[in-house]
Amino acid sequence: FFGSQASSDGFLACLTASVPEQLLFTRSSPSFAAVLVSSVRNRRFLTQATARPLCVVTATNASHVQAAVVCGRRHGIRLRVRSGGHDYEGLSFRSARPETFFVLDLAGLRSVRVSLGIPREEAPPTAWVDSGATLGELYHAIGKASDRLAFPAGLCPTVGVGGHLSGGGFGMLLRKHGLAADHVVDAKLVDAEGRILDRDAMGQDVFWAIRGGGGGGSFGIVLSWRVKLVAVPPTVTAFTIPKSVEQGAVDILTKWQEVAPALPDDLFVRVLVQRQVAKFQALYLGTCDALLPVMRHRFPELGVNHTHCKEMTWLQSVPHVYLGSGATTEDILNRTDPVDATSSKATSDYVRHAIARDVWEEIFATWLARPDAGLMILDPYGGNMARVPEAATPFPHRAGVLYNIQYMNFWTAAGDGAAQTAWVRDVYAFMEPHVSKNPREAYVNYRDLDLGENVVVGNVTSYEAGKIWGEKYYKGNFMRLAMAKLQIDPDDYFRNEQSIPPLDADE
Ligand code: FDA
Repeated sequence: FFGSQASSDGFLACLTASVPEQLLFTRSSPSFAAVLVSSVRNRRFLTQATARPLCVVTATNASHVQAAVVCGRRHGIRLRVRSGGHDYEGLSFRSARPETFFVLDLAGLRSVRVSLGIPREEAPPTAWVDSGATLGELYHAIGKASDRLAFPAGLCPTVGVGGHLSGGGFGMLLRKHGLAADHVVDAKLVDAEGRILDRDAMGQDVFWAIRGGGGGGSFGIVLSWRVKLVAVPPTVTAFTIPKSVEQGAVDILTKWQEVAPALPDDLFVRVLVQRQVAKFQALYLGTCDALLPVMRHRFPELGVNHTHCKEMTWLQSVPHVYLGSGATTEDILNRTDPVDATSSKATSDYVRHAIARDVWEEIFATWLARPDAGLMILDPYGGNMARVPEAATPFPHRAGVLYNIQYMNFWTAAGDGAAQTAWVRDVYAFMEPHVSKNPREAYVNYRDLDLGENVVVGNVTSYEAGKIWGEKYYKGNFMRLAMAKLQIDPDDYFRNEQSIPPLDADE
């Protein structure tokens, strides 16, 4: 039944009855292709071979989302929901398997409402943010409301709130304040029946699950999130220091592994390792004068001095860190970004024991010296991340993690990406002895289908098969996620190549 011609016609008729014509783009619409690619970040999935959706629905209010779910379910057409379109495997707009599906695009649902709170009544500052907003739109609204408030989420301003919070979400405030998902206090979820459920109505297991579990697309469609905002000082300090191998990158990086996760929570020093250079990029929640003694005492090898410091507000630090020193706070409202023309492949690891110096030497001398080499991004954990229990949210990579590694490689339309993809896979194989084990942990927001894909048995996603990739992303939390899935979507309507399978623990 799923995907027949009759069901497609019935589905489109059902949609037309509830969604205005101008928000519905079928394959025959002149704007179909433009709407489909509008927020696609990875050109890898814009080939002739990529399965196209039956249509794209560009919802502008909650009733369109409800209607899309009800019609899809009634007529046996599955959906892919897209907020910012940054999914590394394109699962928000394509199906890796041959199936009839449609795309529900939430870019038109993107309001942000900041509430400054009332300190004397202990009402903390919060914001309601729709899933289709970008991180840049959220940060901008918060920063304009107060220069003493912020939100701890990712670096890239075009990332969508919907997918990002569904998988955890981290950036330069990680060590001080944890993940974006740690700050969600309420949400509105459209379930497989088309109902809108808030925190109380969805129940505590499902509310636990949507905050980082499933990487989106498993439990329903989150329309909006209520998030707690965090306090930041009026001045923060950024610095970037590149160190080449000749300048001692190998020794400094070897030391960084144990220093960075143990620095004061206010200080986040990440590393971008590419070619023969390790670039140390930092954000400190305070002034340069307060930062320098800490760096001299804890990490003198980096040689940070006044000339490296750039002081600014937290909002200004967002474009400064991600877009470069000339970018302005208005630039983070731009929903398209310059990397759009590229294709990419990525995967991730967690490091719990510092990697030996000679291994780093080998990484620089062999892997990073290759003509098709990509880059490694190292984000330090510790601080507040180590103080939150593993089961507090589905995101389990907490105490004991020194840092996260993201392996990435890019290519342009001129190439097929075979060499760049092979580089990522080969480095990942090489790193196995040096990273977390049993399971080898990975970050769901850096989704990689090489880690495993769901198997559907009797029209339900198999829990046993899902464990292969699921325990890498969620460790012991995977089983609880699967039980929450059974509660909210027992028929497994919200399904993709790495969605959470439903589990009946009594069976
Ligand atoms: P997209 O719309 O593609 O959705 C991702 C997944 O979530 C899909 O499965 C989708 O169906 C589902 N989904 C989307 N909206 C949903 C909703 N409302 N309800 C339920 N499910 C929904 N991460 C990080 O932690 N820190 C960082 O600094 C960065 N930086 C970064 C830069 C760039 C250039 C990219 C491409 C990616 C990142 N990321 C990141 C990773 C990013 O957090 C991850 O890809 C998010 O899932 C993207 O969310 P979008 O809404 O943009 O994706």
